[in-house]
Amino acid sequence: MLVAIVLHLLAVVYWIGGMLVMLLVVRPAAVQLLEPPQRLPLLCAVLSRFFVGVWGALVVLLGTGLWMLFRVFGGFALAGIHIHAMLLLFLLMAGIFLYLFFRPYSALKRALKDKNLLLAGTLMGLIRTLVVINASLGVATLIVASAGRYL
Ligand code: HEM
Repeated sequence: MLVAIVLHLLAVVYWIGGMLVMLLVVRPAAVQLLEPPQRLPLLCAVLSRFFVGVWGALVVLLGTGLWMLFRVFGGFALAGIHIHAMLLLFLLMAGIFLYLFFRPYSALKRALKDKNLLLAGTLMGLIRTLVVINASLGVATLIVASAGRYL
C-alpha cells in the first residue's frame, strides 16, 4: 500500500501540477516575450515533453488506483464514494487527454510542419481550453480524493 500510494501521489503531482505550471507560468511568459512564429513551436515542444510523462502518469494512476481498490479496499462494493468519484473523474480526464493528444495536438504538429501559423494558433487555443478543463477536473478530483475519507 505504501509504494502504491506514493506512486499514486507522484503521478497526481506530475499531471495536475504540470498542467497548472503550463497554464499559469509557461504560457503567459511565452505570450509576453515571444511572437507566434517563435512561441507556437516552443509551446508545442514543451507540450511534447510534458505529454510523455502524462502517459506514464495515466498508467501509474490507473494501475496503483485499481490495485489499492481491489487489494486494500475490497473492490467497488466496499470502497467509499470518494474512490468511485476519483475513478469517474479520472476516466473523464483521461478521455479529454486522449482526444487532445490524438486530435488537436497531432493537427498542431502537422500545422507547424506546414508553417501554417494561423491554424496552429487556433489549435493551440483549443488545446489550452481542454487543458483548463482538465486542470479544473484535476483539482476537483484532488479535493474529492483528499477530503473524501472525512465525509
Ligand atoms: C486524476 C486522477 C486521480 C487523482 C487526482 C487522485 C488523487 C488521490 C489522492 C490525493 C489520494 C490520497 C487520499 C488520501 O490518502 O487521503 C488518492 C488515493 C486513492 N486513489 Fe486516487 N486519484 C486519481 C485517480 C485514481 C484512480 C483512477 C483510482 C482507481 C480506482 C484511484 C484510487 C485511489 C484509492 C483506492 C486511494 C486510497 C483511498 C484512501 O486512502 O482513502 N485514484 N487518490
